[in-house]
Amino acid sequence: MKEPRIPGVFSFLRSLQSMVRKRPIVTLVDMSIADLLARKVWLAPMAGGVTTVDLAVAVGDAGAMPVLAAGYLSADAVTAELASYRQRSTAPVGVNVFTPQPPTVSSEQLRRYSELLAPVAERLGSRLGEPVHDDDEYSGKIDALVEASPELVTFTFGLPSEQDVARLHNVDVTVGITVTCVEEGRRALEVGADVLIAQAASAGGHRSTHDPLRKPGRETVAELLYGLTPLDAPVVVAGGIVDAVGVEAALWGGAAAVSCGTAFLLAEEAGTSGVHRQALQDARFSSTVVTRAFTGRPARALSNAWTRLGVDAPAGYPDVHWLTRDLRRAAAHHCNPDWVHLWAGERWQDIRAAPAAAIADHLLSGGR
Ligand SMILES: Cc1cc2nc3c(=O)[nH]c(=O)nc-3n(C[C@H](O)[C@H](O)[C@H](O)COP(=O)(O)O)c2cc1C
Repeated sequence: MKEPRIPGVFSFLRSLQSMVRKRPIVTLVDMSIADLLARKVWLAPMAGGVTTVDLAVAVGDAGAMPVLAAGYLSADAVTAELASYRQRSTAPVGVNVFTPQPPTVSSEQLRRYSELLAPVAERLGSRLGEPVHDDDEYSGKIDALVEASPELVTFTFGLPSEQDVARLHNVDVTVGITVTCVEEGRRALEVGADVLIAQAASAGGHRSTHDPLRKPGRETVAELLYGLTPLDAPVVVAGGIVDAVGVEAALWGGAAAVSCGTAFLLAEEAGTSGVHRQALQDARFSSTVVTRAFTGRPARALSNAWTRLGVDAPAGYPDVHWLTRDLRRAAAHHCNPDWVHLWAGERWQDIRAAPAAAIADHLLSGGR
């Protein structure tokens, strides 16, 4: 272990580390997991077109661990993305899947939210969509992933069944589950997770809180590491880590690896929309907020007119996602940042525009 260079941060983490039961992770897991964890920086999955195959290839070839985002894609599109990745890189790759959500929103709640948004849609020359409660082709994606067998599959928003985990294990796929608290971590291990992806409150995009009606917790990276590292699985931690010092601090605190999303939003190869890129670099956007306004599930985004209007948006994912999708697309098309979901983690002001390999290389230097 390296000697700390920043006494304040590291002395805190060192005392935290001494409280955590340390385990030789590599001896507890098979070599394929060790190979993935040897890549100390993971590209967090970012659905909605942000994680492109180009981005994953650049990051994988730079020595980090890319995780493609299957959310909102068809099962066939996931298969095609994986095939394209395999043609272009020999580095390992992961795929992230959203678990199906229970219905939580009434038609009356959706009607009231539609009424609030209708004038905005009209102003933008757009319309609200039909609020559908679909499962994002979940079982088709599991079949496709069993067939294609990427090195890693991770789940977000809840737990897969033990049977689905077993099917993936049978074809040598390592399974990760995104958790936001210790209790979710324990349950993830009960269904067979090999790796816990611990998402702290500072993370950009959707919170992976398993109960969609529970207010997401405020757990920090350090608190999650303290609570989760004593459990029997390696922990990959995510949330607000955008530089080498952050990576080093998390590894020092017991993380097996670090997952970064926001750090790559301005990467040349990322599919981040123009309006999103501009807003991330615009000083008028000065804070982030966790909001249900865009999709009906809590997510961290830059604060804008929509997050202020939608403070009482109903908990109803993916119904609200479908209700608002066309409106968000129209606003993005018109480069109007007030009515777009501008996902961002708490450290967005510290990110930079650069080729993905350069960003990965800088982050990886925190693990060397
Ligand atoms: C634009 C964007 C899209 C995201 N999409 C997903 C996703 O599809 N699946 C997922 O598990 N997490 C998703 N996340 C959350 C990330 O996986 C990760 O938890 C988060 O980016 C870590 O915090 P950071 O953004 O501060 O690095 C997304 C995050 C962002 C910024």
